Amino acid sequence: MEINAMVQEINRLKKEKNAVILAHNYQIPEVQDIADIVGDSLKLSEEAAKTDADIIVFCGVHFMAESAKILSPEKKVLLPAIDAGCPMADMVTAEKLSAYKAENPDAQICVYVNSSAEVKAEADICCTSSNALKVVESLESNKILFAPDKNLGSYINSQLKDKQMELWNGFCITHERVREEEIKLVKEKKAGVQVVVHPECNPLVVQHADFVGSTSQILSYIKNSTDKEFIIGTEMGILHTLRKENLYKKFTLLSPALICYNMKKTSLEDVLHVLKTEENEIKVDETIRQKAYKSLKRMLEVTEG
Ligand code: 13P
Ligand code: SF4
Repeated sequence: MEINAMVQEINRLKKEKNAVILAHNYQIPEVQDIADIVGDSLKLSEEAAKTDADIIVFCGVHFMAESAKILSPEKKVLLPAIDAGCPMADMVTAEKLSAYKAENPDAQICVYVNSSAEVKAEADICCTSSNALKVVESLESNKILFAPDKNLGSYINSQLKDKQMELWNGFCITHERVREEEIKLVKEKKAGVQVVVHPECNPLVVQHADFVGSTSQILSYIKNSTDKEFIIGTEMGILHTLRKENLYKKFTLLSPALICYNMKKTSLEDVLHVLKTEENEIKVDETIRQKAYKSLKRMLEVTEG
């Protein structure tokens, strides 16, 4: 089927079935362009919690669609590419977290949304890269475990005044590929050009950046800046919106390794297919869902409040 025909059919089915399409900033351009909402993990969770659609088509990776289901259990949540996972989310399990809790009963646990429903169910609160500092500062305990992203955790630790969190040994395989030499070299070659990075990058990289933020924070930082050129230290999918929103600014990727193959698995064909067939529905066990809901809801309350 030709692209225009596919887009038309997607729009028709969306109306007919009262569906909403959510897409992460790392999705391929064609998928971002047919989405009703494109955003970072926080924005997409907020939208999933408040939409009145009957069907949510989540163009992203598994944990994102699962979070949507946790927040909106009465809705049908479809993941167009059913094998799109997040390797970082798989670096922590509910069993290991519960063993940690047994050994550290006084610790509070903050988990990054990049985690399974079972892991969220073991946590006290969730966070995303855009609200992590606020979330952690809201916790009363001085003993906090942050899981699974040690890079984001270490970035938050560097901003905390009176406590330091214990960090799980997980990381994003995409952002971790950026090397310190790459950012040092670009800063040398392009002196005066701002380098913006995601906090999932290694601290050795983050320390040289001019701005650190979630994908949406990067987008709004650049939109509001008067600078004309930027080096981008996050997954390449973000370049699509950056270029659409900033016609006269120039963007270069910090490293050619900044591509997340899981985020690239969703095609327009997949979106059309799930809208037609309602296959690839995400389900979460109700007991787990209720516990995970508490962690996500607490995060949304901290962010909104
Ligand atoms: P944000 O969009 O929240 O910055 O998250 C980045 C990410 O890696 C999602 O998988
Ligand atoms: Fe997971 Fe990293 Fe891909 Fe995000 S970019 S989905 S954290 S592997």
